[in-house]
Amino acid sequence: MTQTIQIIHEGKTFELPVIEGVFGEKAVDISQLRATTGLITYDPGFVSTGSCQSQITYLDGEKGILLYRGIPIEQLAEKSTFIETAYLLIYGHLPTPSEYETFSYHVKHHSMVHESIKNFYDGFPNNSHPMAVCSAVVGALATFYQDQMNQPDDREIEITIHRLIAKFPTIAAYSYKKSIGQPLPYPNNALNYTENFMNMMFSNPCEKYEVDPMVAKVLDVLLILHADHEQNCSTSTVRLVGSSKCNLYSSVSAGIYALWGPLHGGANQAVIEMLQAIQDDGGQIKKYVNKAKDPKDPFRLMGFGHRVYKNFDPRSKIIKKLAHQVFEKLGVQEPLLELALELEEIALKDDYFLSKKLYPNVDFYSGLIYKALNIPVNMFPVMFAIGRLPGWIAHWVELQGDEDFKIGRPRQIYRGPAKNDYVPMEKRK
Ligand code: ACO
Repeated sequence: MTQTIQIIHEGKTFELPVIEGVFGEKAVDISQLRATTGLITYDPGFVSTGSCQSQITYLDGEKGILLYRGIPIEQLAEKSTFIETAYLLIYGHLPTPSEYETFSYHVKHHSMVHESIKNFYDGFPNNSHPMAVCSAVVGALATFYQDQMNQPDDREIEITIHRLIAKFPTIAAYSYKKSIGQPLPYPNNALNYTENFMNMMFSNPCEKYEVDPMVAKVLDVLLILHADHEQNCSTSTVRLVGSSKCNLYSSVSAGIYALWGPLHGGANQAVIEMLQAIQDDGGQIKKYVNKAKDPKDPFRLMGFGHRVYKNFDPRSKIIKKLAHQVFEKLGVQEPLLELALELEEIALKDDYFLSKKLYPNVDFYSGLIYKALNIPVNMFPVMFAIGRLPGWIAHWVELQGDEDFKIGRPRQIYRGPAKNDYVPMEKRK
């Protein structure tokens, strides 16, 4: 029997259906609210709003559970590869051996970018932030592949998916190479996805570069951990842009910008900058913890807190372990790691953080690993974007086939002037 809730407004009672997710999570279906009652809802930041019904990712922020297509993130981190996880997210099931081979083949064989794209990089200042460059270049792919523009068929979407996953590491590595004035290398099909990325980042024509398989594996796990996180800010952006039937390149380009902000994917860069600032200030951790607690001080502990996780972020548990492995294996002495551990310990015993359920999130340790792998700090959000790409794609594809599909168009409560008349320029004071 369908559950309902009642709303009593101006003496009238209205019934609204309650829908239920697979794990018993309940939502009031307000899609007919305005039509039946004249009311709209008000929910800044969409804290209590479900924007869609999705089959891709489930997370339980209280219990610290994250599942991609039902499979726990811990199992994928241990047993899967990023390419396999990308397939899982986009197509809804783990690939058979032949599906895996075909998908990997296509991803590998679309990794070069059009030679003209390289000219774009000359137009950007050398000190451009790579997120801005990546978003611009991914958006520009729409000018090269115009078959995607109007109502693409399944085959066109499929090729676009291959192109995006294949070319993004090339586009990302070029944004770094350009910033340091080195030639833009070509992808190497003999290497796997993460090896190829590392090779494009760190090889140069003068010296041979050997990709450490451990480093490539660690990166692969990090990409898996970032691959999807249901309706986060950037994914919601990709869905919203895609809801105007805008093509996948442009939708992903918008998602990259949404991810860039320090409250979202830019936090991994912000964490390192914060740790460095604390270190430069004599390592006074307590001072910064107090700053974060002071309601008059805008400072926040970067890498702490999450809109959804109010217990622990399951990804940060895996990443913390990974960070220790990397530092041990590479023999890196990283004072910022010690500082991070100390900060975590102090914050996790502090009433402020405990009462507000602020725990280290995925970004708290990922930046330290990237740093140990010599990835420059401003590339950290780009690493996040490479990981998140399959999630964005999966959500865009799901939206296009959604039986409840509608262009995204929230409403508002207007608080501006009730009525104003136009005043000619000469009469304005
Ligand atoms: N340091 C200090 N105080 C914090 C922090 C923090 N990192 N995060 C939240 N708070 C406090 C807020 O000041 C607020 O206090 P109040 O109730 O007294 O007003 C309370 O905790 C709730 O915080 P909100 O900002 O309302 O929570 P919201 O869910 O909107 O924000 C967010 C979540 C943006 C992640 C926030 O915790 C934050 O800014 N964290 C730091 C940035 C960060 O690490 N971002 C990465 C998120 S993970 C990701 O995108 C991959």
